[in-house]
Amino acid sequence: MQRKKTATRRKREWFDDAAFWRDFYPYMFPETRFANTPAQIQKVLALTTPGGKTALDLCCGPGRCAIALAQAGFAVTGVDKTRWLLDKARARARAAKVKVAWIEMDMRDFVRPDAYDLALSMFTSFGYFDDKTQDMAVLRNIFASLRPGGVFLIDITGKERIAKVLQPTMAEVLPDGTLLVQRHEIYDDWTRLRNEWILLRNGRAKSYKFHHTLYSGQEMKDRLAQAGFADVQLYGTLDGDAYGPDALRLIAVARKRGTIAAI
Ligand SMILES: C[S@@+](CC[C@H](N)C(=O)[O-])C[C@H]1O[C@@H](n2cnc3c(N)ncnc32)[C@H](O)[C@@H]1O
Repeated sequence: MQRKKTATRRKREWFDDAAFWRDFYPYMFPETRFANTPAQIQKVLALTTPGGKTALDLCCGPGRCAIALAQAGFAVTGVDKTRWLLDKARARARAAKVKVAWIEMDMRDFVRPDAYDLALSMFTSFGYFDDKTQDMAVLRNIFASLRPGGVFLIDITGKERIAKVLQPTMAEVLPDGTLLVQRHEIYDDWTRLRNEWILLRNGRAKSYKFHHTLYSGQEMKDRLAQAGFADVQLYGTLDGDAYGPDALRLIAVARKRGTIAAI
């Protein structure tokens, strides 16, 4: 019997390196971040007001949001391509005694037509590809995966914030004493950010280079509209503050129109 093809073969990119996620795990996902997530998810639900209880957490990582959504009564699918992080997610879901359908897949490949009332892309899980047009493919997949009337929330660092705070070199001492040096460069006509993160620990340095595409509020709105979404609203926080000059995050809430035609 022929096996069903589920994923496309692609060239290796920076996010395929599991060592990146493993090395930065303690700093990206401290326990306080998990502890704050149920309250964040309540804010997500207040902003999005989904019409039903099925949810997709795209790029779910260690299951932070997926587990909190399941605890809030949603039937959740968590999709991520890093097996190491999905194993963490499975263990955390077991400990929390909730069920989530975990799927190891690239966000460019995941599509489940008309399946979800709510889709999330949280904590800057977007814009990673060498080929920028693939971001549009992801948005189209999300649109297709929502039921009519479904709602998508994306949370990234906006280009406006980057323009305000970015320094070419930044350094900080992490809670375990590791020194993190970040080097940044804007390129490609202010559309991309090239990063080098260097961890200095016990006299040894480890460096990771990666890049992502930057979106301003208007650019994100335009992409979402291009993917088919209607009624796109921007916010600067999950509390629903305006996407203004002091916005820390770029949060877009976009809806897929229902099928009931206006009379
Ligand atoms: C910054 S983490 C955010 C995790 C999660 N959304 C959260 O809010 O805690 C980004 C996640 O994207 C995943 N990822 C990166 N590239 C991906 C891809 N092409 N397809 C699916 N997942 C990907 C990584 O494995 C990682 O879990």
